[in-house]
Amino acid sequence: MENISPALLHWFHANHRILPFRSDPTPYHVWLSEIMLQQTRVSAALPYYERFLAALPDIPALAACEEEKLHKLWEGLGYYSRVRNLQKAAKLVCAQYGGELPADYDALRALPGIGDYTAGAVASIAYGEKRPAVDGNVLRVYARLYAVREDILKSAGRKRITKLAEETIPGDRPGDFNEALMDLGAEVCIPKHPRCAACPLRAFCEASRLGIEAELPVRTKKKPQTEWQAACAIVERDGRFLLHRRPPKGMLANMWEFPMALAPEAEESRTALEKLLGGRAGELRWTLTHVFTHRIWHMRAYDMETACAPSGEDWRWFTREELRQIPLAGPHARLAAIV
Ligand code: ADE
Repeated sequence: MENISPALLHWFHANHRILPFRSDPTPYHVWLSEIMLQQTRVSAALPYYERFLAALPDIPALAACEEEKLHKLWEGLGYYSRVRNLQKAAKLVCAQYGGELPADYDALRALPGIGDYTAGAVASIAYGEKRPAVDGNVLRVYARLYAVREDILKSAGRKRITKLAEETIPGDRPGDFNEALMDLGAEVCIPKHPRCAACPLRAFCEASRLGIEAELPVRTKKKPQTEWQAACAIVERDGRFLLHRRPPKGMLANMWEFPMALAPEAEESRTALEKLLGGRAGELRWTLTHVFTHRIWHMRAYDMETACAPSGEDWRWFTREELRQIPLAGPHARLAAIV
């Protein structure tokens, strides 16, 4: 197998992206950035990264952070289980390792929310351990480099590529090698129209040699997203707004939302909302289409009055000020900004 490392590292030296977590790659910084970047683009995550670290500069601060503040710091990034696991792991790290992440792949891998990818990234980038970090970009780069025709979303394809990554990662500068692959995947070996003329690995690339780079990687089609019509209510009484706390399990767990009813058709969702609140939907105040991974909400928010608002622990009235403090469920934060 040819040694791709010198060409890749040479290219990385001249072309690496300047990113805040690279200027001071402590284990905490690397960990936090990798978790944030898992389902979020770099440009979108950067402001969150800076703000999060300003508020919680180290692992003990993260471990001690109050839940609502933590959610607020994450609000807008989505996939909240990431931040819950981050804190769970921080508490364990404080209890078991004196507040410093362990310098060992297997110990990292055992922490909540840390899978093969994150353990590999932290171990290699922060600790210089020779471990691959195979994310979507890296899967694509290797699928092309070695003309892997297996589906990269299936475990056989992933395993094959992980093995290739293990075989090609150098003992010297493994962290730079991994980040170079990420940057190459983000900027050169891009999904559509890869920029092969600018690629430092072109001479090694089997897909380029065969002229099949545009056909790789192979990915099975994902399940189609389900679309929902979401009718929401803006119910205001004495300067307070009625909100509902979502159940403790499932998507956007425990977060607050404006009263909402989901149905396949708009008319149906509005009727369901009226039934829920025992009132009539008034003026249409706001619309938004929000795309999650597996579903889409077409949201409409109406002014509403209600004579018999639902009550119980899961229903509360909040002032505008309080709406800025509580964890709001995804797109409901956008709605809160306009009431
Ligand atoms: N995406 C995820 N982790 C990254 C990193 N360390 N550098 C660049 N892009 C990334």
